[in-house]
Amino acid sequence: MKNLSNDELGALIQPDRVHRRVYTDPEIFELEMARIWGRAWIYVGHESQVKQPGDYFATHIGRQPVIMTRHKDGTVHVMFNRCAHKGAQVVGDTCGHAQQLRCLYHGWTYDLDGTLLHTPGEEGYAGSGYGKGNPTARLQKVPRVDSYHGLVFASLSPDGPPLRTWLSGAAASIDNLVDRSPEGRIEVAGGCFRYVHDSNWKMFIENLNDAMHPMVVHQSSSGTAKRVFQDLHNENDPVPFELEMLAPFTNDYGFFEKMGLTAWKYGHSVTGGKISIHSAYSPIPGYAEALVSAYGEEKAKQIFAVNRHNTVVYPSFTLKGVITSVRVVKPVAVNKTIIESWVFRQVGAPEELFTRSITYCNLINSHANLVGPDDWEAYHRVQCGLQAENGSEWISMHRYRGQDRTLPDGTVEANGTSDMVFRHQYDTWRSYMVEQGEFR
Ligand SMILES: [Fe+2]
Repeated sequence: MKNLSNDELGALIQPDRVHRRVYTDPEIFELEMARIWGRAWIYVGHESQVKQPGDYFATHIGRQPVIMTRHKDGTVHVMFNRCAHKGAQVVGDTCGHAQQLRCLYHGWTYDLDGTLLHTPGEEGYAGSGYGKGNPTARLQKVPRVDSYHGLVFASLSPDGPPLRTWLSGAAASIDNLVDRSPEGRIEVAGGCFRYVHDSNWKMFIENLNDAMHPMVVHQSSSGTAKRVFQDLHNENDPVPFELEMLAPFTNDYGFFEKMGLTAWKYGHSVTGGKISIHSAYSPIPGYAEALVSAYGEEKAKQIFAVNRHNTVVYPSFTLKGVITSVRVVKPVAVNKTIIESWVFRQVGAPEELFTRSITYCNLINSHANLVGPDDWEAYHRVQCGLQAENGSEWISMHRYRGQDRTLPDGTVEANGTSDMVFRHQYDTWRSYMVEQGEFR
């Protein structure tokens, strides 16, 4: 493999276009794992997934296996899922509960905070310098771990901005997600929809703020749902919630234009704000009342007035406040990405809100749904189309270039169908990948 110089890497990103190699070159993928996924705050999971002491949850940061645990003293730990002995993954399933973590291979046993408790045949290590008490003979902690409203992030790098600083304007999306609970708390409920995309991880991240695709690619799902309803419904039939969810995907260009786009430091962004494809859902009986009694009329009004669509916390985490769900990005290879879709329960809210979130994720985000496969097919075709080496080597980011509005605090705004977010993400990509200094 030839090594790409920083100049060569930098030349792949231009102000209005990006070179196809950024999505197809395995060497660039390897560099991304080290320079982006090895430095940024990466989403691990929610504290409610390790509710009780002894609970554990196994996942990955980039491609590195980690476990999140709840220790006896109630603290949450994120450690590499690698035995200090021969390197086997100590936790082999996705989640569970245990008094201790025992490696299946030679029985080295650890406490929930990673401390080595037991080594079979311990006397054989006497005088070796390895074993209990040696700081490397334990489950190694991920260098930085922090949480925001119970959402746990970790960084493989000991250096970088603190989580709250790094979240920048995206923190407000998390605030609103949690504020939508009358008790100010969310918790993961059930498992997740996990499915493999045979495309580069950046395609999913870009798509969530791409407002020029829904009215085209989702004709097959949203457009069909509208036609079927028109053909079959009788006058005065109630509009099913499923249609309320599906129909806005084929709203016209004007609607998506008005949603607006906002981007912040470190590559984060959001579509919508005042309106989104979620803003016309019918009310859930008792929900507004519960929020008003928890927060008062004015604050409840403010909470419901926030209609952010997709928030992207670059590079690993995306969320929808109204739907109370998150989608997590797990890169596997240059052309393979796992997307996990998790649903949260708004603690104290009517059960119907949770049912709606599950229904939404069944219809839109699961691997056997109506809307997601439209996007999946589009990513797949882009990944295949980019194999064409001759002709155009570049992917366009020209739309509304020169019309981005930068506010004094560095926030960038644009109309909803602009390519601003893509330009912004690649500015961040360049700072991680090429400049490798204080990233932006
Ligand atoms: Fe889509």
